[in-house]
This record gives sequence, C-alpha cells and structure tokens, in this order.
Amino acid sequence: MSNVDYLSVAVEIAREAGALLSKHAERRVEIEYKGEFNLVTAADRAAEALIVEQLRNRFPSHSIVAEEGSGIDNNSEYVWYVDPLDGTTNFAHGFPAFATSIGLALRGEPIAGAVYDPVRDEMFSAEKGSGAYLNNQRLRVSATPKLAAGLFATGFPSGRRHKEMNIHFFHQVSMLSHGIRRAGSAALDLCSVASGRLEGFWEIGLNSWDVAAGLLLVSEAGGVYGDMRGGPYALGGVELLATNGHVQAELIELFGEVFQGRYRAPILPITS
Ligand code: 2AM
Ligand code: CA
Repeated sequence: MSNVDYLSVAVEIAREAGALLSKHAERRVEIEYKGEFNLVTAADRAAEALIVEQLRNRFPSHSIVAEEGSGIDNNSEYVWYVDPLDGTTNFAHGFPAFATSIGLALRGEPIAGAVYDPVRDEMFSAEKGSGAYLNNQRLRVSATPKLAAGLFATGFPSGRRHKEMNIHFFHQVSMLSHGIRRAGSAALDLCSVASGRLEGFWEIGLNSWDVAAGLLLVSEAGGVYGDMRGGPYALGGVELLATNGHVQAELIELFGEVFQGRYRAPILPITS
C-alpha cells in the first residue's frame, strides 16, 4: 500500500473522530480528573477507541501509540501516533481550540499525517514528498524573514507547570517579535506554522502523539524543525522548535542566550 492510501485513511478517520468530538462538545462535557491537572473527558476515550479500532482493522500488523493508552505494540516499523483530542483542557472548558491528530512514522520518520480541527472544519494533511494541504489547498510557510516581524506560539504542558522554564523564552520572544499566541493545542500550532499563520512554534515536554502529524505538515510546507539548541529533533525529543525556516537561526541564537541566563529584554521588577 502506498503512502497516498495511508494518508487518505488517516484523513478519513481524523474527520470521523473530529465529528465525534463536536458531538460531545455540544453536550455537557463529563469531566474526570486524572492526576492533578490532567483533564480527561469521555470524548478523549470515545475518539481514541474509534481511531484505534479502525487503524487495527485496516493495518493489523502496524503498531499504534495513543495518548489514552489503548494502542498496541506489534514491533512494526510502521507506528501510528494518535492524539484523539489535542487541546483537552480547551475542550473541557468549551474554549474552541482542539483537534484530532493522526500521524504515521516509518522507522521513526513521519510519512503521513492528518490534523482535523472540527471547530473550523479544517483538515490539515501531508504525506512525505507530496506537500501539505489545508482542505484541498496547498500550504506554504510564511516568507517573513525576521523574528521582529513574526508571530509565534508556544505552550506550557499542564502536568509540569510548577517546574516550567518556558516563561523565560516566552518573555524574550514576546518582547522581540509581533507577539505570542498560546492557544493550547500543539498539533494546531504546528499546522499554523505550516499554513503561514505563524512564523514559529516551540514547546518543552511534548509527546510524540502531539507532534507526529504536525511536524510533517511543517516540513512539507517548506518549514524546518529541530530542538531549541540547533540540534535535530526526533519523535520523543524534549525540546521542539518549528519555524518557517527563515527565523530558525535567529530563535536558536536567542534561546542560546536564555539557556545561559542572558536576557536581551530584562524581566523588570514590578514598581508602582
Ligand atoms: P493535550 O491537550 O492532548 O493534553 C499544550 O501546551 C500542549 O501540551 C497540548 O498539545 C497538550 O496536549 C499538551 N500537553 C498537555 N499536558 C501535557 C503534559 N502533562 N505532558 C505533555 N504534554 C502535555
Ligand atoms: Ca495532545
């Protein structure tokens, strides 16, 4: 089976799971607490069950890694990364920024991915070597050449907020650019970089299912990604920086200064 078929299956299942999320969003959401800040809804589990069942039916020999743990390890070189509901906290609060993300990696390298935003009915899809699309429209990252003219996104994974160092990077970039949006779905943030709505995105501590599809969108739209220090990023990596390519080096330089405790824009004490 070719990559084209993998992609159309991913797209079809992501759309179905997204529709299911929408249906749940219309009803009052049943919220359960899993750990201190980790909201898990009935929708997460229902969407994951739908996706995993369909993937297992169609690709019984493949492995599946899914956020809520219903995946299967078949020791395959093909691994599906499933985030049934990226932006769970948003969903639980009724804040309309969430998506279903389904990515396929071959020997660790993303080869097909679909991210579906049911709120805007936007289907982001990409397959390796064939470009990235929003619905049927080809995507291209922005041509913005400078950090100073860029709009960025980042996130603060909810489970580790108390030991979060990202506020230092957040402060520098927000002082030196057009600003930062913090919408709470890493998968959608990566799609915004792919579609030229944002110049870049970074986050510390994401999981493979958050980014497997979105990273392929970025690279197939002409963008680049790596870690936050100028090294490569592989699925499972801790630090991620994805940009339109033009601002990557400038951000790595800025982040390097922050890692060393040097701030271009100092964080001033509050004075009256
Ligand atoms: P989720 O909504 O599926 O949990 C927001 O910063 C991004 O981080 C979202 O993509 C969110 O995915 C993810 N995220 C939230 N909590 C996390 C945690 N404890 N560890 C890693 N990623 C998390
Ligand atoms: Ca997620």
